Amino acid sequence: MWVFGYGSLVWRPALAFCESGVGFIEGWVRRFWQGSMDHRGVPEAPGRVVTLVPEAGAECWGVGYRVPRDRRSEVLKTLDHREKGGYERRFVDVHLRGRAETVKGLIYLAKPSNPNYLGPAPLAEIVNQVRRSYGPSGSNVEYVQRLAAALREMEVSDDHVFELEAALNVGSTAPPPPGRRPARPAND
Ligand code: SIN
Repeated sequence: MWVFGYGSLVWRPALAFCESGVGFIEGWVRRFWQGSMDHRGVPEAPGRVVTLVPEAGAECWGVGYRVPRDRRSEVLKTLDHREKGGYERRFVDVHLRGRAETVKGLIYLAKPSNPNYLGPAPLAEIVNQVRRSYGPSGSNVEYVQRLAAALREMEVSDDHVFELEAALNVGSTAPPPPGRRPARPAND
């Protein structure tokens, strides 16, 4: 089984795999349109994390992980728990660099029908929300920065992510309000 990560799974897979590779899926774009109440925000102040939005002709780059057969159920259980804030499983074709054939990859997709979905917003609004959001896994700013850094490392581009990263670097970041600091170092 292959798992394709396009968000936190890019930089923190935290799953058992025997092979991995950079790749893309067709017909999807990555967007900070999903609310996070359990990782990068809290229910009364959700953060913003990525989901996929269909767009004809688009490519979304990420990382594919091949999970050994005997670890499959354990990995699914872990991922279902980690992505429980509105994501559901879907299998898609993944194009891995250096492979002629596509592989079927499992993605976690947060659709507009899930209760935590936030949808599009002007960049300034997303910046403000990301700047002030903290959850059990850490700051929302860190999520954006880690994703952008990982994409750069993979030598792939994503205007939506890089634009948000750049906007966050402008001006000062307010310190986290008391009680919103991460209780433990997790990074989903
Ligand atoms: C993923 O990383 O593929 C799913 C979204 C996330 O956990 O950030």
